Amino acid sequence: MPSAETEPSRPPSHLPKTHASNVTAADVQGELIDDAPVFQSDASPLLEVKDVHRDFDGGHVLALRGVSFGIRQGEFVAIIGASGSGKSTLLSLLGALDEADQGEILFRGEPITKLADPAAFRARNIGFIFQSFHLLPTLTSLENVQVPMFEMGWSLRERQRRARELLEAVGMGHRLDHLPSKLSGGERQRVAIARSLANDPPILLADEPTGNLDTKNSGQIMELLETLHRDKGMTLILVTHDLSVARAADRIITMRDGQVASDEATHQSTPALH
Ligand SMILES: Nc1ncnc2c1ncn2[C@@H]1O[C@H](COP(=O)(O)OP(=O)(O)OP(=O)(O)O)[C@@H](O)[C@H]1O
Ligand SMILES: [Mg+2]
Repeated sequence: MPSAETEPSRPPSHLPKTHASNVTAADVQGELIDDAPVFQSDASPLLEVKDVHRDFDGGHVLALRGVSFGIRQGEFVAIIGASGSGKSTLLSLLGALDEADQGEILFRGEPITKLADPAAFRARNIGFIFQSFHLLPTLTSLENVQVPMFEMGWSLRERQRRARELLEAVGMGHRLDHLPSKLSGGERQRVAIARSLANDPPILLADEPTGNLDTKNSGQIMELLETLHRDKGMTLILVTHDLSVARAADRIITMRDGQVASDEATHQSTPALH
């Protein structure tokens, strides 16, 4: 099984060009459907979480206490659970932002802790979306989307071309030069989604991506994420408090006190891997 480092770099995606100033959500979705590359689904797990533990404060806080599950390529999994149940801790481990104290996480059969360079792994394989967007305040939309691309060694011209395409694809082609402070919450999240797609990652990790948005914007962001999952075959792992958001997933994992309390397929899904 090749490690993330030895995999050939994936070609830039072919998200469509759009007419920047008059993109609608329907346009975005229609175009993503037409043109997007499809990742083949695979029976073996893309990610495997094996008896993972994570403590904080010298063992006083047991954030994760023996978590195990597998995620197939192309699955859409929602992780729900009470505040403090370990959802964000788990997502950080899945994205190689943090390391387990016990147990391991395998990516295509390889322990992610054994990767020589976690930053390169993240840049090539993981897109992150957060509740509070985490855009850099002094950078424009076009510049924010380019940030993850530095890891790829692309030219400025290539980065700008690609960032513009991604922003157009999420309906933000008319706000390329705006700073985050000049954007609405929903617009910021769309820029953050474009940024998460910068390097065409196979996996999107989203931590409460609609948590700071009103119902209308939340609905639009969920439509965009579902389109990416459905039509590009992206593996989507989404943490949410909102059961109506979670129900869009193929499968819902419920966390309780650092453990998996339940792991259930929803009506639209294939059976879960355990
Ligand atoms: N860096 C840290 N240092 C100490 N304790 C931490 C740290 N990160 C998380 N915790 C603790 O670990 C537990 C799990 O936290 P986590 O952020 O994963 O919860 P969560 O399920 O994402 O909650 P929320 O829904 O409120 O975001 C909590 O008790 C939290 O206080
Ligand atoms: Mg959290």
